[in-house]
Amino acid sequence: MFDDKSILITGGTGSFGRVFARELIEKYSPRRVIVYSRDELKQFEMQQQKIFDQKCMRFFLGDVRDLHRLSTAMADVDYVVHAAALKQVPAAEYNPMECIKTNVLGAQNVIDAARANGVSRVIALSTDKAANPVNLYGATKLCSDKLFVAANNIVGKRELFFSVVRYGNVIGSRGSVVPLFKKFVREGRKTLPITDERMTRFWITLDRGVDFVMRAFSRMKGGEIFVPKIPSAKVTDIARAVAPDLPFEIIGIRPGEKLHEVMCPADGSHMTLEFGDHYVIEPSVSFRGETDYFENALGERGERVEHGFEYNSGTNPWFLSPDELKSLCGEFV
Ligand SMILES: NC(=O)c1ccc[n+]([C@@H]2O[C@H](COP(=O)([O-])OP(=O)(O)OC[C@H]3O[C@@H](n4cnc5c(N)ncnc54)[C@H](OP(=O)(O)O)[C@@H]3O)[C@@H](O)[C@H]2O)c1
Repeated sequence: MFDDKSILITGGTGSFGRVFARELIEKYSPRRVIVYSRDELKQFEMQQQKIFDQKCMRFFLGDVRDLHRLSTAMADVDYVVHAAALKQVPAAEYNPMECIKTNVLGAQNVIDAARANGVSRVIALSTDKAANPVNLYGATKLCSDKLFVAANNIVGKRELFFSVVRYGNVIGSRGSVVPLFKKFVREGRKTLPITDERMTRFWITLDRGVDFVMRAFSRMKGGEIFVPKIPSAKVTDIARAVAPDLPFEIIGIRPGEKLHEVMCPADGSHMTLEFGDHYVIEPSVSFRGETDYFENALGERGERVEHGFEYNSGTNPWFLSPDELKSLCGEFV
């Protein structure tokens, strides 16, 4: 799929982007892997890693808010993975317009730059927080999802397809709860702060996330939101896995947080299809005549979910056991 292709990764220096670039290099022979992001230090540090010392690697400094720069970077690019985002919930609440400029206007710039060049496939990363959003970060990612889905309507006769991959929390990613709990333990705290004992979250490893996005490039017809089937965990079980002996301090749910996250909302069950290892949310409008989403481009077949079905971290049949959590949390410092 990626042999002899030029792939541009917005946010290529981030947690996802680095692993995606590494997988491209290790498993395929891409013509070019272009990292597009703002901070020169992160790019410099990435370039110093032996794995990225390759002829195919390119590092472009640029902002997704800058259409002209983005368009220059996309010259002769085949595939784009859009991973650049502002993603801290409190920062988005405090600086709403900055989050909108990067996550919403930046998304439209990615679409416009792809249309202006010879790009054939674009996948944008989304989050569970975009489903029935209660915070600005989630709302901007929902807008971004809508822009990418609708972009399939403005490609004319071009063979250019846009799809979205939506998943939950990445275990051990920057700013997530496992490194935070570990930091508290190192600092010698006597209690661990828990917002609510009932709270659950979807969890995915970075490797699984990257693998799922790569596969989505082969599965996509354009306009789908792909949602992997992934496990849930109770926040209290994660705390016990990190620090079995520390008592909890219940601090209450914070602004912009939910008790449980949703990836496929019940209101959209009439548009949700179930496949072996994932769900697909069909677009609410049709493109290129009638696209049949029941069979994906790999020939895998899905079925419509029951009316009212919701993919919710609280009612997910797949929960991580305490032992599984312990070994997963152990991997992250
Ligand atoms: N981590 C999770 O738990 C999680 C869960 C679900 C979905 N996601 C989604 O997955 C994607 C990747 O997340 P991640 O964990 O890899 O994030 P990350 O580690 O914070 O990386 C974000 C990347 O985006 C770049 N960036 C930020 N603003 C930019 C801008 N205006 N222009 C160009 N580049 C910009 C950053 O580099 P510079 O700062 O140098 O520009 C960095 O390379 C995001 O879309 C996020 O919403 C993440």
